[in-house]
Amino acid sequence: MNKKIMITGANRGIGLAITKQYINRGEEVYAFCRNPNNSPELNRLSMENNKIKIYELDVCSEDSIKNASNLIENYIDIIICNAGIGSSYGGFMDDKNTHEKFIQVLNTNVVGVFLTIKYFSNKLSKESDKKIVIISSLMGSQHHESSNAYFYRSSKAAVNNLMVTFSNELIDQNISICSYHPGWVRTEMGGPNADISPEESAENLINRFDEQSISSTGNFYNFDGSLLLI
Ligand SMILES: NC(=O)c1ccc[n+]([C@@H]2O[C@H](COP(=O)([O-])OP(=O)(O)OC[C@H]3O[C@@H](n4cnc5c(N)ncnc54)[C@H](OP(=O)(O)O)[C@@H]3O)[C@@H](O)[C@H]2O)c1
Repeated sequence: MNKKIMITGANRGIGLAITKQYINRGEEVYAFCRNPNNSPELNRLSMENNKIKIYELDVCSEDSIKNASNLIENYIDIIICNAGIGSSYGGFMDDKNTHEKFIQVLNTNVVGVFLTIKYFSNKLSKESDKKIVIISSLMGSQHHESSNAYFYRSSKAAVNNLMVTFSNELIDQNISICSYHPGWVRTEMGGPNADISPEESAENLINRFDEQSISSTGNFYNFDGSLLLI
């Protein structure tokens, strides 16, 4: 039977590539984005294929997440927390390192993930191999020698920590949760010089999501399947 997948930030970048590949595989996708009216690629996809449904969801608004989850009548098999933003790549004295920006990055990359899981986990099918995946980043690992991107690194470190705590609480409900580094990807965030295309990242990630099970819950993986240190 085909799977039902919900994904945040589905309108561009890695989220759009994951959405397209699931649709091509015959799965059903609930594609959530901040601004459905300004998401031409998603709208074109949904006109061509009735397996994709587009809904509005801003991960920085608890009301938006709650309302979005209430629109889903069917059970889903996989929750994909993909939406995210970057921050200044400078050192700590960079002018762009403001209080407002730090709050925005944490709100999007950490609080947004927490609330998405909070409001959507009860939509996970009782029958299936229930999975939650978080698109994190290697930049969130504590094992590094870099001296930049303070806000982004700390947000991805925090979301990996959330993932471990969720894994401990959700194991009794047979729900697995893992976080993934998608590679350095040529998106608006990754820039044109990044290593891999969104399509290559999405293909690898979907293979990883297929492999994810309750026995791998609580782990942080690279897109190629290797285990990463949190
Ligand atoms: N690209 C890389 O090299 C790389 C590396 C490691 C990790 N990642 C992670 O991969 C994920 C996807 O990144 P990407 O490269 O595809 O970035 P991207 O091209 O910049 O796309 C980001 C997506 O997140 C959405 N988003 C941002 N804030 C949102 C909000 N408040 N509510 C809902 N959606 C929101 C954006 O929607 P709008 O169009 O509305 O802004 C967009 O769909 C992120 O979590 C990122 O941290 C990326």
